[in-house]
Amino acid sequence: MKGSALSQLGRRTAEPAITWLMREALVRPGLISLAAGFTDNPSLPVEITRDIMADMLRSGKTGQPPLQYGTTAGDETLRALTARRLAQLDGQSPKAKAYSPSRMMITHGSQQFLYILTEILFDPGDIVLVEDPSYFVYLGIMQSHGIRGRGIRMEADGIDLAHLEATLEALKKSGELPRLKALYLVSYHCNPTGTTTAAAKKAAALKLLRRYEAARRSSDLFAGRRRLPRAAFCR
Ligand SMILES: Cc1ncc(COP(=O)(O)O)c(C=O)c1O
Repeated sequence: MKGSALSQLGRRTAEPAITWLMREALVRPGLISLAAGFTDNPSLPVEITRDIMADMLRSGKTGQPPLQYGTTAGDETLRALTARRLAQLDGQSPKAKAYSPSRMMITHGSQQFLYILTEILFDPGDIVLVEDPSYFVYLGIMQSHGIRGRGIRMEADGIDLAHLEATLEALKKSGELPRLKALYLVSYHCNPTGTTTAAAKKAAALKLLRRYEAARRSSDLFAGRRRLPRAAFCR
C-alpha cells in the first residue's frame, strides 16, 4: 500500500525552526546567536553544579533518591518549593488555592509539560489564543496537533485586554466560541518579548474568559453539548 507510514500528527509536523537555529549555533562557534537560547558558556555554573552533585552523592541516604524513580507528578518538596516561588513572583499569598503544591507537576523541561497539556486538552480544529508574538516552538506543537492559533496584541505589561475581549466577541459572533480551549500566556519573562504579565492582568483576563465561557456554556446546554474544559493556562 502506497502512502506515508506517519500518523496524521506526524504528517502535520514540520521540522521546527529551533532545530536549525540550534544546529547553526553549534556548528559555527564564531556565531553569536541570540535566537537559540544558548547560555553564554563561560557563565555556566560548572563548579557550583559539581559541588552540589558531590554533596548529593556523599551518602546512600542522599544519593539514592535522585537516582531512583519518583512519583509521576514529581518530588513533593520540589512541588512545594515551586508553588511557593510562583506565589512570591505573583506577590500573592502562598495559601491561595492557585498555589497549592497539588497543582504543580514536575516534568523534564517545560516543553514536555506543554506537549502533555496539549494532548490532554485539545483536539484538531480547536482554537488557542496566544500572545502576539509568542514562543515559536509552542506554535509548532500547536500546528502538529491541528490547533488554530489567534494572536492577542501585547502591551508593555502583558496582553491587551481590549483586544482579548474583541477577539472573544468575534469568536462568539462567528459561532466558533465552542472551539476555543485556552489562552496561552508565557507570563513570566515572556519569550520573545521579555514581558512579565502582572497578576492583576492575568486575573482580569481570566474573568473575561469566564464571562465568555459562561455564555458558551448556556448555549452549549441549550444545544445539548457537554461542558468543555476550563479555558486558560499560563506558563
Ligand atoms: C517560553 C518557553 N517555553 C518553553 C521553553 C522550553 O523550555 P525547556 O527547555 O524547559 O523545555 C522555552 C525555552 O526557551 C521557552 O522560552
